[in-house]
Amino acid sequence: MPTIQYQGKTIDCPQGANLRMVLLRSRLPVYNSVAQALNCRGRGLCGACAVRIEGPVSAPTEAEERRLALPPHRPDSGLRLACQCSVEGDVVVTKQPGLWGQRS
Ligand code: FES
Repeated sequence: MPTIQYQGKTIDCPQGANLRMVLLRSRLPVYNSVAQALNCRGRGLCGACAVRIEGPVSAPTEAEERRLALPPHRPDSGLRLACQCSVEGDVVVTKQPGLWGQRS
């Protein structure tokens, strides 16, 4: 069973679990500031669930690639959208500052 390290916590999840859902169910914040209330609820549209991930997750979806190509994100940022990622092994996840988590 993969583990997710995030904000000082370690969470177990089934392989293939959606990263956003695992974090939300664990009551860990996926969003910064007002994006906690104003987000697309996991449809890959708002970009506010962006995180940095070390470890194996699913390949980017088309929706994810489209959204991460638009400001304030950059296609070369290396960020991923938690709502579009399935956890495939042990991962370390970091939420960066900024409304979209886009600042390094
Ligand atoms: S929740 Fe909106 S893009 Fe992930």
